[in-house]
Parts: sequence; structure tokens; C-alpha cells
Amino acid sequence: MTQLPGLLDTEALRKDFPILDRVLHDGKKLVYLDNAATSQTPRQVIDAVSEYYERHNANVHRGVHVLAEEATALYEGARDKVAAFINAPSRDEVIFTKNASESLNLVANMLGWADEPYRVDSETEIVITEMEHHSNIVPWQLLSQRTGAKLKWFGLTDDGRLDLSNIDEVITEKTKIVSFTLVSNIMGTVNPVEAIVRRAQDVGALVLLDASQAAPHMPLDVQALQADFVAFTGHKMCGPTGIGVLWGRQELLEDLPPFLGGGEMIETVSMSSSTYAPAPHKFEAGTPPIAQAVGLGAAVDYLSSIGMDKIAAHEHAITEYAVRRLQEVPDLRIIGPVTAEDRGAAISFVLGDIHPHDVGQVLDEQGIAVRVGHHCARPVCLRYGIPATTRASFYLYSTPAEVDALVDGLEHVRNFFG
Ligand code: ALA
Repeated sequence: MTQLPGLLDTEALRKDFPILDRVLHDGKKLVYLDNAATSQTPRQVIDAVSEYYERHNANVHRGVHVLAEEATALYEGARDKVAAFINAPSRDEVIFTKNASESLNLVANMLGWADEPYRVDSETEIVITEMEHHSNIVPWQLLSQRTGAKLKWFGLTDDGRLDLSNIDEVITEKTKIVSFTLVSNIMGTVNPVEAIVRRAQDVGALVLLDASQAAPHMPLDVQALQADFVAFTGHKMCGPTGIGVLWGRQELLEDLPPFLGGGEMIETVSMSSSTYAPAPHKFEAGTPPIAQAVGLGAAVDYLSSIGMDKIAAHEHAITEYAVRRLQEVPDLRIIGPVTAEDRGAAISFVLGDIHPHDVGQVLDEQGIAVRVGHHCARPVCLRYGIPATTRASFYLYSTPAEVDALVDGLEHVRNFFG
């Protein structure tokens, strides 16, 4: 068995993930390499959600009965856990949403409805990048269409990194918000946050980081990142679906207007007007995703018990090995960085002229789950002149043997298509 420095004890860890024992068609053991789409769920998280429903289920912040108090304590306890996980200065800076897309849309709408000095209007500019997930493109296109603000973006270099050579022309005195991904979901590129944040701060622009592909994989310290908002989602970090997070600096959350109106986000309501509850409740209208937040809290406990540094080291070793082994496959072209430095564990590639959907189908027949398509990052495919990619993405339970299985599987794909 291949041994690499820095690997976690995956034999023990994998016992926490019942689904990884699945045997698929023709007795093929599941090789799950679609972690950038969604990660698998450990028993500890499944149990926390089950226990919530079996013993504590009630609505939060409303009842005076025992179950309501327990549910509220669990929901707010999850907020404490998430705040500690990302080193937030205050628990009140953690807003629960349904996913990262909602978190990103929330910021776009806050800024669209805001008063000065935050308001995005026809005199101002929004900056994104060509490697964003659609969820960090479309909300800004919508805001730009609604307000007349100009949408600008950083392009990409041939090796899958941000081209910051024109940073001073892209981020200008007119820029109100710079919103970009910390780690590319399609290419795995880890972006140079510090350089972009510094320039944004110089011109007084706000910074929103999409950390969907970062929070599950590396230590995340919102204070060190010096962004104004950070968005991520639960289901990519061992948590349930239906729960996302928006972290925002407290003074911004105090100043900015809510987007969704409803129960629980108010202080008082009359027929002519309302006043709002303080953040984070101002941004959590209606019954929130309670069980999902409890599950996310358990996921944070789980990841923290392993250690995010150790998870990052494990994934670095696996990624280095995978990048090396994939380059041994004839006709395989990696779309994105071809070194393991400053890259995460999502690796996209094309295999000769075999369509990625065919690659994915033949891999699936061997029990290997990858994602194929444009990965909700179609501008990246357009930039590199390809219709789609095959993407293998790894996580804390991935093993060198699974990398070998992928490489063998690709050999099979090549033979299959002659
Ligand atoms: N955002 C997820 C992915 O990249 C769904 O696959």
C-alpha cells in the first residue's frame, strides 16, 4: 500500500462513514471522489441529527416549554461552535442560511438595498473573477442589472490562476465590493487573498470571500483573512444539506438592511412599519434550518477533533500524489495548477477527445464517483476552450489506493474508447 507523509489514519476514520462501505454494481466497492460537490456524513453527525429529532424537536426562540428551550439551546450552541471554528470575534456575526449561494445572494441584496456608504448603484463597480462558481457570478449580474453598477472581473492565466497583473485597473476608487473564491471549485486553485484584500482596502471596497471549498479543507480564520464577509456551506464539510453560513463584520451587519422579511427577524411590527432584531436574527427570517444547524455543529466538532491542520496536510499529500499520478495517464490534460502548491484537492482534467460524460460513465461502472460537466463554473470551460471537464475531488478519508483506482479506471476508459 502506498504510504505518504502526513496522511491521517484513514482506516480508522473511514469507519465513521457508513456510506463508504457501500458496494455498488458488479460488486465494485465505492470510490467516492466527488467531495467538492458534497462530502460524506460521519456517524457522529447522523446521530446528532437523529437525536435532535428523537428528543428535542421544536421551533426555536418561540416557546416556553422544555423542548423549545432545548431546541433553542442546540441551535444557538451550533452558532457558538461555528463562530469558534472560524475564529469569529463574536457569535452574533454568524448568520445561518440554507447554503453558500444564499449567503452570497444575501450580501448582494444587502448592498443593493443599503444606504450610503455601502450602496451599489450606477456610479459604482462590482469586482468578481472568471473562476467563480455561478453562485458568485449570477447574484452580481442581477445586482448590476438592477442598479446599473458595472460588473468587472479578473481573468485567468493559462495555468489556472488569477491574473492580477491589472489589479489597479480592475479594483478602483469606484469599487464597492470585491467578491471572489478562496479556492476554485473546478480547478482547486487557492487564491492570493492578501494581495486582493490589500488593494480592496486601499480603495475602501468591501471584500466577500466564497470559502465553500476552503472551510472543509483548511483552518479558516476570518480575522486573519481580513475580509468583510465569508460564505460557506455545511454539506461540503461533513454536515447536512440545507445549512449555510454567512459571517460578516459586526458593524456592517448592524448597518446593512435585511433582505428577507418575516417572523423572528423583527423587534416590533405595526401595520405601517417594522423595526428589526439585532444581527444575526435580522437576517434569519422564518423558522431556520434547526436540525441542519445542529448537524453542522456536530460536523464542526468532528472536524475539530481531527484538527484542520492535519486534514489540510492529509489532503496536500493526496493531492500531490494524485497530480503526479494523473500526469502519467497518456493524453490527460489537467485544467488548473499542475503542482500541489497553492491548490486544493479538486482536480479537473480532460482525457484526449473523450467527452467527460463518457469518462464519468465508464468510471461509474467501476464504482468510481467523479463529477463531470462545467461544475457551475462555465466561464472557466469557455476560457480554456473545452465543453466540460472530469473532476476528481478528495477529502479527509481519501486514500492513495483510491487515487490508484482512479488512474486504473482512466486506463480502462482509454481502452474502452480505443
Ligand atoms: N458547488 C458544487 C460543486 O462544485 C456543487 O460541485
